[in-house]
Amino acid sequence: MRSRKDHIDLQRLPSHIAIIMDGNGRWAKEKGQDRLYGHFHGVESVRNIVEGCAELGVGYLTLYAFSTENWDRPQQEVTGLMELLVETIRKETETLNRNNIKLHVIGDMNMLPEYARQALRESLEITSRNTGLNLIMALSYSSRWELVQAVKHIAEDVKAGKIDPASITQDTLSGYLSTGNFPDPELMIRTSGEYRISNFLLYQLAYAELYFTNVRWPDFRKENLYEAIIDFQKRERRFGKTGDQLQQETVVNQ
Ligand code: IPE
Ligand code: IPE
Ligand code: MG
Repeated sequence: MRSRKDHIDLQRLPSHIAIIMDGNGRWAKEKGQDRLYGHFHGVESVRNIVEGCAELGVGYLTLYAFSTENWDRPQQEVTGLMELLVETIRKETETLNRNNIKLHVIGDMNMLPEYARQALRESLEITSRNTGLNLIMALSYSSRWELVQAVKHIAEDVKAGKIDPASITQDTLSGYLSTGNFPDPELMIRTSGEYRISNFLLYQLAYAELYFTNVRWPDFRKENLYEAIIDFQKRERRFGKTGDQLQQETVVNQ
């Protein structure tokens, strides 16, 4: 069978893909299983999609793994997710390293149990010199939390005389976000048929192309990723301009 991969224009890949990995619970329920069974199988999709992005040559992949709001889930599910996270990090670090993948974490690490922070610190250190795919895990992350943190830091730096309020630009604000070193996502994928952003990268997604699929996260594989990228490549990204303007620009640049 031919892969959809053959239809991807490798010169026009989204430099940064962000994914809201949703539907683990429903996937498990549909199989008469516990929600954690769904999370467990979701890890297989993470592995597959990270590999798919690395093979294509995508620069940045952000995965929304656990939101600030997810702390309000039943204790048993939260603990199960933390244990799964630590187990996965420990198991996969060697593979990440072998594939030249650099791990990053965004979110409120102070909320995580110490054993999880420890596992993350180790993996971050081990992969820190890698130069291939940047894998950004959003853990205990929410965009409004991140924006509040940024505002606090800016206020402190203004107070300390390090920055002049009049000189603050959009780039200044971007730089204070936890994604300060990464380009904005160009493609945002959400699985499992939900059409919302759920407090994910609100500032950074300003001009991202949004792609929604009914496929549940544990069923999401490379072929589904390719389909999303092909869809992305068919879109006209106007950034506020008209379609005619864009066509003229293409002629000029040729
Ligand atoms: C996504 O799947 C994983 C996390 C939020 C941790 P869900 O657990 O939200 O699955 P549904 O939405 O209940 O099916
Ligand atoms: C968003 O999924 C968070 C993650 C995928 C980690 P949720 O399942 O928590 O989002 P809502 O509650 O349906 O908006
Ligand atoms: Mg969900």
